[in-house]
Amino acid sequence: MRISLTDRCDMACIYCRPSMHDGYVAAEERLDESAWDTLLSSLISQGIRRVRITGGEPLLYRGLLPLVARIRALELDDLALTTNASRLEALAQPLRDAGLDRMNISLDSLDPQRFAAMTRGGNLAQVLAGIDAAQRAGFTDLKTNTVVLADHNDDELVAITEWAWHKNMTPRFIEVMGVGEGAHLFRTHAVGYTRMRRALAHLLSDDEARTEKDRGPAKYARSRDGAHRVGFITGTTHTYCDECDRLRVSSTGTLRACLARNEGVDVSEAARMGDSRALSEGLAEAWRMKPDANFKGCTEESAAAVSMRATGG
Ligand code: 5AD
Repeated sequence: MRISLTDRCDMACIYCRPSMHDGYVAAEERLDESAWDTLLSSLISQGIRRVRITGGEPLLYRGLLPLVARIRALELDDLALTTNASRLEALAQPLRDAGLDRMNISLDSLDPQRFAAMTRGGNLAQVLAGIDAAQRAGFTDLKTNTVVLADHNDDELVAITEWAWHKNMTPRFIEVMGVGEGAHLFRTHAVGYTRMRRALAHLLSDDEARTEKDRGPAKYARSRDGAHRVGFITGTTHTYCDECDRLRVSSTGTLRACLARNEGVDVSEAARMGDSRALSEGLAEAWRMKPDANFKGCTEESAAAVSMRATGG
């Protein structure tokens, strides 16, 4: 289960979010902390085993640290978070202390100017300081996420990989999806798996990249010496609807069965009222909305209408 705590973000990545000047409005009716507690404990008691906290930018959520500690106290196998790391320098150790297991960090470029352009204002130095703080705090299997876009960062795959390996991290390269703002870019700027793989061929073993159990759709290839990995997330070249067992919860309390569709089940009222029966009915209903093996469930239009920041990237 991926939970989007807030749709606010202090960056506005070009593939994710409209620029601030484009009439951006934050979601109203965000779930409060006690509603999150009810929702999480109810869904976890019904069999959810792995939780990832996303956003928007989850580090902007005021009650994040106590919430992480409370989720940690529930019965689950894995608690992870995806962040842009702009505030991570101060929060890495407290997050570790609160019981967070793992983190993925968005990192689209190692060049400060490009980074600022792709994120519309992000500060690379802050992000790198956040990554160092996370490593000092004991997050040992950090992964980076790079959305690869032609003319923006498609010449940086080798540099990012070598840099990440040097720091004992796993870089992951992501095909831009035609979801939300990505719809404006994917025809013109998408870089597919084959091209990414070719750019890194001299660093990687020739074996097929493979998914890992319980670790989502990312496929991993090994370095020639076997010591490191690179991940690829190929949501445009491939569909993995038939294996997808994810459930998303938006910051307003809507359960969503699919990243590429806006439909969902609003369980905010049930969460606020502490109505666990309504919550389990909502979960069952969301589950029935899952696309099946041979039907992708989304269309280009439906995907373009999704707000990635509200659904959780
Ligand atoms: N296509 C692919 N990945 C995206 N993300 C956000 N929008 C898109 C998109 N259109 C991913 C980025 C970021 C994570 C939070 O969400 O990889 O690291």
